[in-house]
This record gives sequence, structure tokens and C-alpha cells, in this order.
Amino acid sequence: MTASSESSLSPAVDPLNGHDVRRDFPVLDQQINGNRLAFLDSAASAQRPRPVLEAIAAYEERDHANVHRGVHTLSHRATEAYESARKKVRRFVNAASEREIVFTRGTTEAINLVAATLSQSWTSGDEIIVTELEHHANIVPWQMLADQHGFRLRVLPINNRGELLVEQLPDLINDRTRLLCLAHVSNALGTINPVTECVAMARARNVRTLIDGAQAVPHMPVDVRAVDCDFYAFSGHKMYGPTGIGVLYGRESLMQSLPPWQGGGDMILTVSFSGTTFNELPYRFEAGTPNIAGAIGLGAAIDYLESIGMANVATRESALLKYATDKLTELPGLRLIGTAANKTSVLSFTVEGTHPHDLGTILDHQGVAIRTGHHCAMPVMEHFNIAGTARASLGIYNTTDDIDQLYKGLTKALEMLR
Ligand code: ALA
Repeated sequence: MTASSESSLSPAVDPLNGHDVRRDFPVLDQQINGNRLAFLDSAASAQRPRPVLEAIAAYEERDHANVHRGVHTLSHRATEAYESARKKVRRFVNAASEREIVFTRGTTEAINLVAATLSQSWTSGDEIIVTELEHHANIVPWQMLADQHGFRLRVLPINNRGELLVEQLPDLINDRTRLLCLAHVSNALGTINPVTECVAMARARNVRTLIDGAQAVPHMPVDVRAVDCDFYAFSGHKMYGPTGIGVLYGRESLMQSLPPWQGGGDMILTVSFSGTTFNELPYRFEAGTPNIAGAIGLGAAIDYLESIGMANVATRESALLKYATDKLTELPGLRLIGTAANKTSVLSFTVEGTHPHDLGTILDHQGVAIRTGHHCAMPVMEHFNIAGTARASLGIYNTTDDIDQLYKGLTKALEMLR
């Protein structure tokens, strides 16, 4: 296999059968504390299927060299594999052009790139709208910027089901509003936000839009042109690819008007001490040697997801979320945090008389991996007046076996803790 070859489901794997899909993930084939591993922490970082691991190994073992720089064969191969990954990303989110696809270290870096560049034309008193359910990555960069330049942050609130109060958005927008920053899916609650509707409201008032899609792209088809946003950011490691690689989609006409961000090699056309001219899109925003292996791994993850079909992923995970919700809410004292009508892949909960960390530790002893705490969404916790939750999050390899193991583990934890 070469780094650029197609990576898909193993032969004879039924894409709608989680048991089959699980077998493509070597890390899941192990015992944790003497138990089968039930991995329910994909919202933090998903596991990688064999084709992704093989694509990275093939590149590292046979094709590695720097990209866009060499005339030799390995550099050509590395460049072709890297740019082929960009083509896959473009197709995956239906961007109009590869010039709109910038590789970053992840969602966080993509958001920081927008913060540092887009804001250069703003003046003190300009406003940024974020929502109450954002991940810290879509709050803190804006807060820092606001502190430095006298911008104002305004917050679109949620209701007690964890749904955005979209009807309040028009009132938050005024002639100083420059940007609406919005998660597609809440990492802490699983709420699917009506991004297309929110973007339309913002665009009608000439407000730019940035969508944090980190928790959406692994779970549902995403079409950035249908959403009609200006920016859409996501990470490789949430979608079965490597860590340290992510994507900023940016509408080309807007990206063309942005100043460069980090300076260095590859983002320039000419450099002399009398001045520098900058490279074309998307390279203008990719200073320095990029994460070549990461991009190739991400491309392989996209091939893998497409071989299952994103509509199939959404259908199967939705059925599993329903199974898990019905099962967990049977447990006495369990309170689901986040009960939006439109939800995906996340079950956040508290259990009366227990601490989430204790639940997480006891579950780990039974082979069940969940995340506990505030999930980098402290304002969400504040809304519900809690310090944190236990969070089980679903991926393509999860089955009802994992949910049954979680249920059994929680039953045991409750016996021990109460
Ligand atoms: N954003 C990641 C999570 O939700 C780390 O767990």
C-alpha cells in the first residue's frame, strides 16, 4: 500500500454492523483491568482504524520527504500524498475549491488563525457573538482578543435542555457585530445546533460566521456550502485520524482578503530585506513544514468514513444514542444533562449522591472508558449549576454491547458509592 492509496473498510465488513467495524480498530482488541474494552470517549479523541495506521506507516517507511520543496522522487510522492489529502477534505465537506482548505494543528489553531487575521480590520467596540454551549476553544481566543483590543463578547444563551435560544440571536446583532462563533455540535451536551438557520440570520445582517465543527464531522454529513458559513473548523483526531492535524475551511473570497498569519517558509513567494510577497491560498496560511503524516492519516480517515457512508454513520449512531438514553435513564438518580430534541452521540449525566470522577474510576476498573469533568465547557456546567458530568460519547465502532457494559458498570458503581 502507498501513502496515497485508498483506505476503506476491511473486506466483508458490513458498514452498518458495529461489531464488524470494531474489528478494524486494533486498539479496541484488548482487555482493560481484565475486561473487554468499551471505549466511550470518542468525543475527546476517537480511535484509528487499521487503514489510517497503515497509510501513515506507508508514508513514513517509504515516502517521507518535505513537501512543495524538492525535485526528487520522495518529495514528489510526499507532496502528492499531502495534496491528495487536501482534495479529500475538500470533497468531504463540499468546499468549492482546495484553496479554501488550510491544514492546521486542529480546531483550536484554526479558530486562533481566524481570530488573529479577521480581527485586524475591527476597531474597539466591535462585537463578537459566541454561544453559552461553546467549547473553551471557541470562547477563550475571542475573550483574549476582546481584552487586547476593546472588543465586546456577547453570549447567545441556551435553555435547560441545552438548546440554543435562536430566537434571541437577531436581538444580539447590531451594527457593531463582526462575527458569530457557533459550535455545530456541543461536545458537552451533544446538541446539534441549527447552524444553517443561524448563519442565514447573521449573513442577512452582514455578520461573518465561524462554525466549530469538531464534534459534527465525525457523526453526520457536512456541507459547508449548504451551511453557507464563512469559516468551518475541525480536527483530525475526532474523526478517526491522527492528532496534530486539523482543517480550517474558509470562503475563498474572504480568505483572499485576510492578512497572512504566521510567517515562515512555504507561505511566501519572494523574500528580500526590502520586503516579502506572500504565497497564494491555501499555502499563505501554512507557514513552515506541515504535519505531512497527519494530513495523509486524515485523508485515510476520510476514505474510511466515506466507505461506511456518513448517512449510515448518522443513522446507526442515532439508533445507538436512543438505545443508550433509554437504558441509562432506567438508573435511579441519573440525570441526563443535555436533552435537546436534535442531538447526537453524547450522553452527559450526573448521578445523585456520586461524583463523576468516582464513577469514571469505577467504570475504568470494569473496562469502560468515559470522560468526566467539565469537558472544556465550563459555562455549560455553570448553566446547569454543576461542577461536571460523566460523559459517554459514541463512535462508529460502538455497539449495544458497549452500552450494556456501561449500564452494568454504573449499576456496580452505584452499589459501591451509595
Ligand atoms: N474537546 C474534547 C472533549 O470534548 C477534548 O473531550
